[in-house]
Amino acid sequence: MPDGKSFSPSPEFASQAIAKPEIYAAAKSDRLAFWAEQARALHWAKPFTEILDWSHAPVARWFDDGELNVSYNCLDRHVIAGHGDRIALYFEGEPGDRREISYAELTREVKKCANVLTRLGVGKGDRVAIYLPMIPEAVITMLAVARLGAIHSVVFGGFSADALATRINDADVRVVVTADGGYRKGKASALKPAVDEALANDRCPTVEQVLVVKRTGEDVVWNDQDHWWHDEMAKASDEHEAQAFPSEQELFILYTSGTTGAPKGILHTSGGYLTQAAYTHKNIFDLHPETDVYWCTADVGWITGHSYVVYGPLANGASQVIYEGTPDAPHPGRWWEIIERYKVSIFYTAPTAIRSFMKLGREIPDKFDLSSLRVLGSVGEPINPEAWLWYRSAIGGDKCPVVDTWWQTETGAIMVSPLPGITSLKPGSAQTPVPGIEIKIVNEEGEEVPRGEAGLLTITEPWPSMLRGIWRNPGRFHEAYWSRFEGQYFAGDGAKFDDDGDIWLLGRVDDVMNVSGHRLSTAEIESSLVGHPWVAEAAVVGASDEITGQAVVAFVILRLDQVEAAGEAENISKILREQVSKDIGPIARPRQIMVVAELPKTRSGKIMRRLLRDVAEGRPVGDVTTLADTSVMSVISAKLADGASD
Ligand code: WTA
Repeated sequence: MPDGKSFSPSPEFASQAIAKPEIYAAAKSDRLAFWAEQARALHWAKPFTEILDWSHAPVARWFDDGELNVSYNCLDRHVIAGHGDRIALYFEGEPGDRREISYAELTREVKKCANVLTRLGVGKGDRVAIYLPMIPEAVITMLAVARLGAIHSVVFGGFSADALATRINDADVRVVVTADGGYRKGKASALKPAVDEALANDRCPTVEQVLVVKRTGEDVVWNDQDHWWHDEMAKASDEHEAQAFPSEQELFILYTSGTTGAPKGILHTSGGYLTQAAYTHKNIFDLHPETDVYWCTADVGWITGHSYVVYGPLANGASQVIYEGTPDAPHPGRWWEIIERYKVSIFYTAPTAIRSFMKLGREIPDKFDLSSLRVLGSVGEPINPEAWLWYRSAIGGDKCPVVDTWWQTETGAIMVSPLPGITSLKPGSAQTPVPGIEIKIVNEEGEEVPRGEAGLLTITEPWPSMLRGIWRNPGRFHEAYWSRFEGQYFAGDGAKFDDDGDIWLLGRVDDVMNVSGHRLSTAEIESSLVGHPWVAEAAVVGASDEITGQAVVAFVILRLDQVEAAGEAENISKILREQVSKDIGPIARPRQIMVVAELPKTRSGKIMRRLLRDVAEGRPVGDVTTLADTSVMSVISAKLADGASD
């Protein structure tokens, strides 16, 4: 590293960068005026005069008297500005099929889809569930829903029928948009059967219509409320005038795991969300929309896909790649082949992916021409310095800045990140609050901790893309984020400032796990396990894992009579893992099930996950003095040492 610990921007990069060093001072001197200036980069049908109303804290109202249409901002205005021929989406299907969709075409498709949805009964404020693979129709549907002032709830295609049904019912969804299936790992993978199962026996009574994209052409069961996407689109007009909606019009709900119970429906609204998604996308990735080709590998089922595949890039008029499949199908160089083919210049992915490529060796990316790349981004979990350095070198040809971006479903957009033309980059650190964002790191008492000391990350001032609440659960909103430190947003992450004042993220401090950059709740997996008749008690921990960051490890106490009666003792692990897969989805399936006789509990009955994590990670067990029964851990450890796990 040039000065021993950081990489300064090259003079060429710095001179052409979108963000100039003055941006920090501008945001500091008048934060609200700074955000208003960012908001004015959007098209407002009715300009706002108010910037922030925080009188109903913690529910913010940004740009409250302004009106805009989010879909118009992502589409029509680029066409009107003369960029209709610019490619919006370079779509690459896993089997190798390709589509290039210009801004003019995408606008037409979204207009048609808005007309289809209107005919199916969708109006302002109605909820539409989207359960699709990563195909252009997913983007088209999201923008069509937004265009109507309706609210989308995208459910990741890897979630099970049960998880889909829970999300549909929580939001009283009226229309579901899905596909027969998509391609994953080299074969067709069905989606429609999960929708059929979710809706069977009137389980989701609010759903009136289902719109089905034909992607794989595999047979599907057809129900009364089903409509083929292609039939409806063929009949629909491609004229649709976007109506302006208030800035605080609800835009989407996205479910995410919390520390307790059912997933939370995180609610985002329009003007503030789009402002921060577009501003961060432009400045952090240094987007030059006329020349860059951008690729974010996230699925639209996650917040990264919402803010950095759909809303940020399209609001900025970017040309971007979307890819349907897995990184290793049909060969482990597939991603690098895509970068070479489309001359991708900005690439945004997760540390898990980087670590698994690192394990395969740099010979694979070395076979491809990656010289078009200029900026690399990382998101979803802490990136270890070793992976950061490999990313910069093996993928970025030792020349690309790597921006490590910290944020959450709840924050809506990036909150902590270097700016590539300004910041001297430090491997493994997310470094600086984005201009306009105020962060403090505090101890349990809410006092700021000195540099070098670990504490809890809090956000002290409202920001435009902040969540506006938890769908139908205002009490939980306050309790989950604003109650620990009054008036401050508590993110659930540990962090510290180093001696230079750079921020290092230290992982979750609550019962949320992060597996391959996906958020999972220990409580949700435990409740799935105890839902099985064989399980008396369960405790789940996230054990560190070299590739996926964390992995799910479950400790269970069995009801031995039930297991014996079923005569399946040797299949316990398989059957319980399957149970979690069915209730939540394959991403939540435990890596390991450990059968134990007892769980370590405090005298007040709280499970001490810290000790279980020690066991799961193969470490000597730490301090056990607060346990009600101090012998429990030695029994568990001894049993595991005997190879009695699984
Ligand atoms: C973690 C994903 C360290 C963090 C955008 C956060 C990170 C949770 C980073 C949110 C990063 C995300 N460094 N940790 N750069 N990015 N996280 O809601 O624990 O799926 O609270 O949003 O991921 O996950 P979510």
